[in-house]
Amino acid sequence: MSKRTILITGGAGFIGSHVVREFVLKYPDYHIVNLDALTYAGNLANLKDIAEKSNYTFVKADITDAKHILAVFQEYKPDGVIHLAAESHVDRSIADPTSFVMTNVIGTVNLLNAAKILWDNNFDGKRFHHVSTDEVYGTLGENGLFTEDTAYDPHSPYSASKASSDHFVRAYHDTYGLPVVLTNCSNNYGPNHFPEKLIPLCIHNVLNNRPLPIYGDGKFTRDWLFVIDHARAVDLVFHKGVNGSSYNVGGFNEWKNIDLVKELCRQMDQKLKKQHGESAKLITFVRDRPGHDLRYAIDATKINKELGYQPSVTFEEGLSKTIDWYLNNQEWLNDVTSGEYQSYYAAQYL
Ligand code: NAD
Ligand code: DAU
Repeated sequence: MSKRTILITGGAGFIGSHVVREFVLKYPDYHIVNLDALTYAGNLANLKDIAEKSNYTFVKADITDAKHILAVFQEYKPDGVIHLAAESHVDRSIADPTSFVMTNVIGTVNLLNAAKILWDNNFDGKRFHHVSTDEVYGTLGENGLFTEDTAYDPHSPYSASKASSDHFVRAYHDTYGLPVVLTNCSNNYGPNHFPEKLIPLCIHNVLNNRPLPIYGDGKFTRDWLFVIDHARAVDLVFHKGVNGSSYNVGGFNEWKNIDLVKELCRQMDQKLKKQHGESAKLITFVRDRPGHDLRYAIDATKINKELGYQPSVTFEEGLSKTIDWYLNNQEWLNDVTSGEYQSYYAAQYL
């Protein structure tokens, strides 16, 4: 008999797959149920090393389907939920906002309702962990950091949908007493990152000798965290976070996009034994993203002070591990860039 059953949504995606692996391997007496619709971003190949573990179950379900979600809750009776399923790419949200409202807002409310019905006011040992983003805070100028008290000010349809989902999670805590925790993390990078996002897109394009598209002047700034360090933070907050609280997660690691891409090119030149400066010749400045937030930067003091959290790798180390992973997993890259990716890429960049 398992000690706990934890339902993880979006576990076939980039971050979700690392969270699932962390929990399956670290907690053999937990039953981990991975619920995922397997959209373009979901890929069971991300989990092939743990797919046969006896404490792991995969369920294909769409969180916008309220009836199906309730049936899954009633079948598996999770006492914990870690919710990562989402439409996650800002550029896609600009092209198709409605699908972001459906999954990120309605889907989250469907999960909250299912937890509320299943737990039926018996909240002992129960927890709903909502995984969110720093983008809900909007944009910073040249200075300052986002704290947990920064007012929400989302600008893209993606961040507006995530902000809305955060509000619903807090509303279910305040109104119905649902035991919740939230994490708002900065930009992740690492293995299994879908190559629509800046870092894996540039790795893929260097490998294929294609232009590296930099939006606007390239001075936009993001705060990057290695994905395994995000998974460790989720583990910590899920188990030790204070009920009703939010935790910002980040590594105090800001990079301007252009500097980051130059560092990526430098490392790839070395690893591919190319002449220094060769990959950087592919850098191409392209039309800016509409509503592009200038700068994100997380103040991760609370999670550090309250829960003792610290990232485990420097950015240079994490980036090196990430590039190595892509070099060793080119079949994965080829699989995810065939099909739908080609039409997405053509519409986004040409
Ligand atoms: P991703 O796009 O790689 O994966 C999303 C997963 O959700 C996929 O497996 C997909 O199949 C699944 N999914 C999508 N719609 C679904 C639906 N309707 N029903 C069930 N499953 C569905 O995303 P990611 O980058 O791994 O992000 C995971 C979560 O973390 C998201 O909630 C995102 O907002 C948040 N987040 C991401 C980052 C980042 O840098 N990527 C940073 C902070 C927070
Ligand atoms: O901050 C957390 C967020 O980080 C997450 O909530 C999102 O799910 C995740 O996608 C990510 O959002 P960003 O928009 O910051 O990530 P992206 O990789 O798309 O872009 C990073 C920066 O690089 C951003 O300033 C836009 C720029 N960019 C992006 C792409 C895809 C380019 O210059 N060129 C590109 O082709």
